[in-house]
This record gives sequence, C-alpha cells and structure tokens, in this order.
Amino acid sequence: MKKDLLAISDLSQKDIEKIIERSAALKKLQHQGKAHATLKGKTLGMIFEKSSTRTRVSFEVGMYQLGGHALFLSSDDLQIGRGEPVADTARVLSRYLDGIMIRTFAQSTIEELARHATIPVINGLTDLHHPCQVLADLFTIREKKGKLKGLKLAYIGDGNNMANSLIEACVRTGMHISIGCPHGYEPDAGVMREAQQETVRTESVLRIVNDPAKATQDADVVYTDVWASMGQEAEHAVRVRAFQGYEVDAKLMKTADAKAIVMHCLPAHRGEEIAADVIDGPQSVVWDQAENRLHTQKAVLELLMK
Ligand code: CP
Ligand code: NVA
Repeated sequence: MKKDLLAISDLSQKDIEKIIERSAALKKLQHQGKAHATLKGKTLGMIFEKSSTRTRVSFEVGMYQLGGHALFLSSDDLQIGRGEPVADTARVLSRYLDGIMIRTFAQSTIEELARHATIPVINGLTDLHHPCQVLADLFTIREKKGKLKGLKLAYIGDGNNMANSLIEACVRTGMHISIGCPHGYEPDAGVMREAQQETVRTESVLRIVNDPAKATQDADVVYTDVWASMGQEAEHAVRVRAFQGYEVDAKLMKTADAKAIVMHCLPAHRGEEIAADVIDGPQSVVWDQAENRLHTQKAVLELLMK
C-alpha cells in the first residue's frame, strides 16, 4: 500500500479487499469485547478545518480501541491557522506523531502535507474526496448484499466529494454506478476521465444522467448526499432550486430494485435530498453505515501505521 490515503485511487482492488476483510474481523472483535490493541503507543493527530461528528469521534475512539492515542487539532488553534506553511507543519508534526488525519478544503493542501510528512496522511474529507466514508460504504454494501461486483449503485444529487469517491470505488471493485444530477453539478472531470479508463479492467459501467429515475432504474444501492456541502453554505438557496426533482423519496425508490438499500453519509437534510420516510424507513442502512466508519478506519489505521 502507499504511504498515504488521499483518495480511493491510492488503493488497488486488492487493498480495498484487504481493508474490507480486516474491517469485518475488527468489528467482530469489538462486538465481542475482545482486546485488539495493535497500535499501542502510537499517536494520531487529527486536524480539522471543517466541522465533524462521525469522522472525529470514530477516529478518536478507533485509536483508543487499538491501544493508541488521538489528538484533536483544530486549525483555529494551530499556527497553520495563522499562516505557518503546510510543509513546515508536516515536517514538525512528523517528529511527534505516527500519523495525521486531516479534514480540509483543497485537495492540494492534503497533497502538500503528505509530500512533506514522513508519516502517513489520511484524508478525512476534502472538497474533492471522502475516501474514509466510501471505504465504510463498501464494507456496508458487502455486509448487506454479500458482494460488490456486478451491483448497481445510483448516486442522486450533487457531483461532490462523495460522488467522486464513490465513482473511484465502484470502478475499482466492478460495481456499476449511475449518477443522476442536474446540468452543471456533475462530478469532477478529472475523476471521471481516470474512472472511465479503470472501467475497461473491471467491466464496470459508469454513467451520468440528468433524469434521477434513469439512474435509480433497477439499482441495488441508492445513495444521496447534501445539496450544499461544507463551504457552500452561501449557495444553499440557489442549490435547493437547482436540485428540485432530485429528492430520494418513496416514488423514486419504486424505480430501484425492490431489495435496494438506501445510503447517506450523513448529516442528512430530511425534506431536501432525502425524504424522512425513506431515510427512516426499512430500506435505509444509514446507522450501520455510520457505525462502520469506526471499523474500516481502524483497518486503515492498522495498515498504514503498524
Ligand atoms: N459522514 C461524515 O463524514 O460525517 P462528519 O462530517 O460528521 O464527520
Ligand atoms: N458532501 C458533504 C459530505 C459531508 C460528510 C460535505 O462535504 O459537506
């Protein structure tokens, strides 16, 4: 495996399979209350430039359960917030820590941090990618459906960080992915280009359509995320108008496979991207999905930091 996890494209199909297998084993150990202190004496620094509930708590608890320690570092309190270069921060933190998890805006920030750090750097969300979330999503799909290859995932809504990472994951694991989004809200062009090349190897089908019901047609997994991501708060009203007709509701769910599962990385806005009766209904797996952040991240921490 590479030193860092900056995007799903840093992982091979084999790496992904390894992470899923280890996540399942770690989940079992944790549920049975058995010790698994594989990172004794190790410290993870967690830099946050945006809010977080799941990522912060699951990484901190994950390090604790692995026998290590996690430090929450708000960018407001670090010198980085006062203009200390990212490269210098990376050099210094590498002398104290065993790994860094960072949630930031630009992908270039995390790339620079990783370039100058001698320890592993993990992407806890950028504007472009959210790989830790998507590893938990793959593990959840595997748990619920027993496999990944050949399944169809429909992603409805904004072509954001979640869409980009899901695309990279699907084309690497042989899943088919249809994105249903309005004009002007497509996923990243660079991610799309690279993903199309990957489909040749795995025979995944990658499509972008404007009609959400075309995307969800016979889907095994229906996935959605917020219309305005962190940092886009000022665009909220414009986006709510642009995404009219893209809500994952009971009517749209009828076009998917009858046994389809519904996923959302959370936080969710009921009545915007997802209807309350869908996210709180029997097809929703969002709470298991959220729990699995803990198990897959522990697998990633072990692989990168042990
Ligand atoms: N899904 C997710 O990353 O949640 P948080 O923003 O709460 O970390
Ligand atoms: N697309 C969302 C994901 C939050 C976990 C955001 O970036 O705000």
